[in-house]
Amino acid sequence: MKVVLASQNPHKLAEMQKILGTLGMEVLLERDVGVNVEVEETGTTFAENSLLKAQAVFDATHLATVADDSGLMVDALGGAPGVYSARYGGLHTDAERIALLLENMKDVPEEKRTAQFVCAVTCLLPDGRKIAVQGVCPGVILRAPRGEGGFGYDPVFYLPELGKTFAELAGGEKNRISHRGRALREFCRVYREVDRHDE
Ligand code: IMP
Repeated sequence: MKVVLASQNPHKLAEMQKILGTLGMEVLLERDVGVNVEVEETGTTFAENSLLKAQAVFDATHLATVADDSGLMVDALGGAPGVYSARYGGLHTDAERIALLLENMKDVPEEKRTAQFVCAVTCLLPDGRKIAVQGVCPGVILRAPRGEGGFGYDPVFYLPELGKTFAELAGGEKNRISHRGRALREFCRVYREVDRHDE
């Protein structure tokens, strides 16, 4: 089965293809099916925003569609930057957004620097079914960046049990524990279950 990823991001495509390929799915980008849908992320939750993205692309293509929405929630900041992670402070680069985060947390003591990455995945199928799942990865926000890999807030997101930040993990290692990896594996589990009940 072909499924359209509601995104123009080839990195997300590679990650999705790796995991959804185990279901026999071929993941396509919007441009592969001739659409480029602009979606305003007006939701207040990751689940709402992933549904908005999936619905917009489904309405344009009527093909099976999958979308994800993700971000970082810091406990001491009341869940910020949350759904605004990609546009925190209206800033344009990851380095600037990390600097703002660390500045906003400069008075937060070690034991209160807990946070979680969250990823919501929504899939809409042409027969009307909807699968919506979420994956969470807990961690701690460091006082300075560490590591060269990954993207976004990876260099300040520390995993105490591994003694490393997300930016210090190899791609496969990050996928095994990350919010996105967890959400996608949960998606596979639910999809297989739904499929079994249809037989
Ligand atoms: P999205 O593409 O709308 O889901 O935006 C997600 C934003 O949240 C990204 O631009 C990053 O700032 C942040 N984010 C989500 N997942 C990760 C991750 O795995 N590592 C680092 N930052 C992430």
